[in-house]
Amino acid sequence: MGRVKVTPRIVVTGKIPNAGLEVLRNAGLNPQAWSQDTAMTRQELLQQVKGAEILVTLLTEKVDGELLDAAGSQLKAVCNVAVGYNNIDVAACKARGVTVTNTPGVLTDATADIALALILMVTRRLAEGERVIRGKTSWQWGMHYMLGAGITNRVLGVVGMGAIGIATARRAKACGMSIIYFSRSEINAKIANELGASKVSLDELLATSDVVSIHCPSNDSTHHLIGKTQFEKMKNTAFLINTARGPIVDEQALVDALRNHEIAGAGLDVFEFEPKINAGLLDRDDVVLIPHLGSATTETRNAMAVLAADNAVAIVNGRAPLTPVG
Ligand code: DGY
Repeated sequence: MGRVKVTPRIVVTGKIPNAGLEVLRNAGLNPQAWSQDTAMTRQELLQQVKGAEILVTLLTEKVDGELLDAAGSQLKAVCNVAVGYNNIDVAACKARGVTVTNTPGVLTDATADIALALILMVTRRLAEGERVIRGKTSWQWGMHYMLGAGITNRVLGVVGMGAIGIATARRAKACGMSIIYFSRSEINAKIANELGASKVSLDELLATSDVVSIHCPSNDSTHHLIGKTQFEKMKNTAFLINTARGPIVDEQALVDALRNHEIAGAGLDVFEFEPKINAGLLDRDDVVLIPHLGSATTETRNAMAVLAADNAVAIVNGRAPLTPVG
């Protein structure tokens, strides 16, 4: 009598595009997938992960020691459907021999588009202007009406010159901006040349940039990388853009810097205590606030789900994951 083949338990902890589920099903797997738009409660999550060999997770799920233990020692991998993985305790995974994967590359352009959109929105006061129209406030064209700041010939300072930082710099350069960056390592010479970009210290970047755009990962070393001291170093005509992760910026220090006119404005796609928004940001016209839309296009979300699923299939079949973390 042949042995019965046991299908590994694959738990998809949030609602992902069908394209990702199809990859899993076409590989003969039977994913247990959460189908509601809202995230599972922690209790539901702890229950659902039990016995899983692979977890396919979203950034709304905190993957820590407790969750890994709830899953059990058969757990092989956590495949995050995001490039950022600050929701995952990678050290705890490593200690248990659990592989972690993310989805780099596929959301680079979508996120860089949002960074450029925020730069234009905040410097040209677009959201504020739209509020005037939608609020049915009377207005009239005037030479001095709602003037913003142009970005041509201004300096973009990129904090974290990985793929998304580079893609944002390319867009900004096309708008006539010059580029400086602060990053752990120098970028490849060909790209630096194409962008005319030079690596500077964070202090120099803050003091020189007209727009500071954050693109570094969120971890212990970047937590509150931009806080009170850093805002004091920025030009009072400068703007801060964050499409990376909220905790990189001390949000209360940002509110204070805006109130004290230490900087001119901010464009934020991510928040320190997401989805909660610091009340001090809400009634300010010098900030643009959007709800974590960096990767929110249909094609990008499909590609993210497919890449996470490809990672899961590779691991189940004993192959190396495509995009491991660390
Ligand atoms: C990511 O992939 O980290 C993005 O923030 C998701 O939108």
